[in-house]
Amino acid sequence: MWVSWDHLRMLSWLLVFHTLVLPALGVSSLEKPQTNQVSKGLQQLLGNISQFFEKDILGRDDAFIMVSRKGWGAEATGCSSKLGRPVDVLVIHHVPGLECHNQTVCSQKLRELQAYHIRNHWCDVAYNFLVGDDGKVYEGVGWNVQGSHDQGYNNISLGVAFFGTQEGHSPSPVALLAMEALISHAVKKGHLSSKYIQPLLVKSEDCLVPPQKGKQKKAACPHIVPRSAWGARESHCFKMTLPAKYAIILHTAGRTCSQPDECRLLIQDLQSFFMDRLNACDIGYNFLVGQDGGVYEGVGWNNQGSKTDGYNDIALSIAFMGIFTAACPHIVPRSAWGARESHCFKMTLPAKYAIILHTAGRTCSQPDECRLLIQDLQSFFMDRLNACDIGYNFLVGQDGGVYEGVGWNNQGSKTDGYNDIALSIAFMGIFTGSSPNAAALQAAQDLIQCAVVKGYLTPNYLLMGHSDVSNTLSPGQALYNIIKTWPHFKH
Ligand SMILES: *[C@@H]1O[C@H](CO)[C@@H](O)[C@H](O)[C@H]1NC(C)=O
Ligand SMILES: *[C@@H]1O[C@H](CO)[C@@H](O)[C@H](O)[C@H]1NC(C)=O
Ligand SMILES: *[C@@H]1O[C@H](CO)[C@@H](O)[C@H](O)[C@H]1NC(C)=O
Repeated sequence: MWVSWDHLRMLSWLLVFHTLVLPALGVSSLEKPQTNQVSKGLQQLLGNISQFFEKDILGRDDAFIMVSRKGWGAEATGCSSKLGRPVDVLVIHHVPGLECHNQTVCSQKLRELQAYHIRNHWCDVAYNFLVGDDGKVYEGVGWNVQGSHDQGYNNISLGVAFFGTQEGHSPSPVALLAMEALISHAVKKGHLSSKYIQPLLVKSEDCLVPPQKGKQKKAACPHIVPRSAWGARESHCFKMTLPAKYAIILHTAGRTCSQPDECRLLIQDLQSFFMDRLNACDIGYNFLVGQDGGVYEGVGWNNQGSKTDGYNDIALSIAFMGIFTAACPHIVPRSAWGARESHCFKMTLPAKYAIILHTAGRTCSQPDECRLLIQDLQSFFMDRLNACDIGYNFLVGQDGGVYEGVGWNNQGSKTDGYNDIALSIAFMGIFTGSSPNAAALQAAQDLIQCAVVKGYLTPNYLLMGHSDVSNTLSPGQALYNIIKTWPHFKH
């Protein structure tokens, strides 16, 4: 199904191409880590852009795999220029020539890079962190030591780099996700200011300006599947103001595709969706990228897309087909807590409501303890209340864990009149006087977000407390006061 075309979540990445802005800026490379003089104008532009670029990633899971210095076999160094915290600037580089897709190769290349940087009289590898196309984060000099990535900025910025990425290609989707998670983590842990400026400098891409006479560099361009090949309908959109100043990366937040045939059909459907449902002049993107590695012409170089309000005429929008938001929280399955079998009525999905409850009994703060508690709760519901199963779709422990109750597909039994259309999420414990801990609150919010992304909850769902639908104290006043501030709360 099509989930929300939520603009915020679509701005998963914003690339600032400076082809026109400041051609003198380069990227760091194996040969010569850059010593950019980031001019005032660019700083300002980037400031402006970072306001436009919603700090959407901050609410996310920051799940990423970190390969420590030990993990990649770093040479020990005695670097001691401490980096204060939080820093205000984040600089993202990419290091051509360092392409790698697995930990073995990434580690080896990173060792070479470190040796190279040390030979060139830097104290250590130049970056705080690096991200490989394997989706892993590699510790460079880490959080507390200054990098050597941008002269004049090393003491006020975190410098992170993508391994490799050939000209004309974006880092892999998993690498982009890992980078987002790393940044989110940096902000949450106070290494990076929440108001950080994020100049994402990417090497000037000849592919992003239309071919100009006598200046063609076709070799750098990937093959682009033309509109005719995916059966595009005719359209009349406004023209771009070329060359574009920005490239904006989005995702379609819907189906993905991994075969050319499938991708062509998907793009046809997307075009119909835009034209017939959204009344747009055509599909909303300049180009689309499939998981087949193909680049597909959307409205192309010359016509405006429609997904980047205020930027449609000056930004090339490139949409990855699929959903590339952070993963759902880990849900402890029924099998892991020894659930008894059951036969409950099915939910009417997608659910329209999310209802928060508390169990008004014991709490638990360790996975073992939580699993036992849920077993007891199930027995209570089935043996004492004659219910078909435990009464909640999901349960959340003070260990920060999310536990499958009757799950996505079956009805709980605690929200009379809503059981079939509401996902019920119960915090284990009594939350009248004190609220659940931060980990538990985060877990519940992640679960709700996940439900929307996976299509179990409608994007315009309403959030309610148990006491809004039943005469009960659940979820407890302290917890109720908190969920009142969450998105979609029904007032
Ligand atoms: C950034 O925004 C300020 C104030 O809105 C504006 O004066 C300035 O021209 C903008 N700078 C750039 C480079 O777009
Ligand atoms: C890592 O990638 C390299 C080059 O692509 C390949 O030769 C090697 O077998 C891979 N190693 C593992 C452990 O997958
Ligand atoms: C960073 O270094 C510059 C030049 O050495 C210095 O003027 C500035 O105060 C330093 N900033 C911080 C935050 O340490």
